[in-house]
Amino acid sequence: MTGAELIRSTIFHTTGDPYRDSQTFVAIDDGGLLVRDGRIAACGDFAAVRAAHADVPVTDWRGGYVLPGLVDTHVHFPQLRVIGHLGGSLLDWLERAALPEETRMADVTYARDTARRFVRALVSHGTTTASVFGAHFAPATAELFDAAEVIGMRIAAGLVLSDRRLRPELHTTVETAYRESTTLIGRYHGHGRALYSVTPRFALSASEAMLEVCQTLMREQPSIRCQSHINEQRDEIGAVATLFPWAEDYLGVYERFGLVGDRTILAHDVHATASEIERLADSGTTVAHCPASNAALGSGIFPFRRHLEAGVRCALGTDVGGGVGFGVLKEALQAYLMQRSAPEPMVLTPPHLLYLATRAGAEALGLAHLIGDFETGKAADLVYLRPPEDSVLADVLRGARDLDRVLSALITLAGAESIRDVRVDGDVVYRSEVA
Ligand code: GUN
Ligand code: ZN
Repeated sequence: MTGAELIRSTIFHTTGDPYRDSQTFVAIDDGGLLVRDGRIAACGDFAAVRAAHADVPVTDWRGGYVLPGLVDTHVHFPQLRVIGHLGGSLLDWLERAALPEETRMADVTYARDTARRFVRALVSHGTTTASVFGAHFAPATAELFDAAEVIGMRIAAGLVLSDRRLRPELHTTVETAYRESTTLIGRYHGHGRALYSVTPRFALSASEAMLEVCQTLMREQPSIRCQSHINEQRDEIGAVATLFPWAEDYLGVYERFGLVGDRTILAHDVHATASEIERLADSGTTVAHCPASNAALGSGIFPFRRHLEAGVRCALGTDVGGGVGFGVLKEALQAYLMQRSAPEPMVLTPPHLLYLATRAGAEALGLAHLIGDFETGKAADLVYLRPPEDSVLADVLRGARDLDRVLSALITLAGAESIRDVRVDGDVVYRSEVA
């Protein structure tokens, strides 16, 4: 976006992790967010920003709320139509629900349609950046990158790599995996708003040779990312132990192939050992916490307190289609709900939940210099929420006495119907049809 605009609204953002420093939470009742050429040029009280920039046209969003664009750190594009297969646990859900649908991505026309619907679903829920599992097929994965570029959102994504335990149609060879990944990296990584993420599906479906290919790609391309799954369910963990008898634990498999570190996001980690938690913290690896998926698939309750106390970086993932929808704020609510009744319970505060839904995801992807909050110079990635006048949320907000109460009501009740306008680099990537 070129030109300047001064947005007037209630503004929330976090410049760091409020769990560690409460001063990092910023809430401005009558706020002014100055956007110039797609970047944040100022953020503060409207009157003060206005006084310094009297010539800039004002976008009046009073009565609504502006947050940084939401970041979904774990979501599967070919699983759009799998949402809502309730009742199974991981391995039988994969077999019955996810893998048959993922096999259909061999049809590039079907994949293109799915990719377009998928990115539209993300932005219409306020997500501006996502770490996405592509398909097991390179042309389908290319469709995902193309769809994200057309709609204008940021993604880190990759071709999903597996060579055992799934089904033959989804398996590749190490040679093809290397060749196709390298081609996709050259075509998409660092182009526009896209990043490439090496994506071994999980240790269970990757041979040692395939994990070596992932290691080679990570070595050859120092700025690409990596994503996978870890410690989701007990039978999965048992099967990984059988396949990799030399590994100390699940994390040990990824460590052996150089796949941990600050470029890596691992989803779930529900059944982590104390040693794994310590090593995740030391390596700077991020855990994508996906509480709705953990509940829906019966994975268990994520030991959030132990991860936080050890200093593990954590962010949120919707894990569609194991998860139940695209809303990252809903995911934050689900995290809150589950942690209240965890064996080691904790109360996740609204500022901390906002951080998890925004800046924590930016940090996970190594993008905190660019997105995640409204510091001057960052990209104007934002979401404008305004609940429908006749909604329960609007009623609740009319009675809210302070901004903490407002934020907790938004996290609890704001769904896609409350998302009005979504920007990336100041460009509109979604605008609701409601006036
Ligand atoms: N582990 C391996 N593949 C998947 C998947 O598609 N969803 C979830 N939740 N876990 C996985
Ligand atoms: Zn997943």
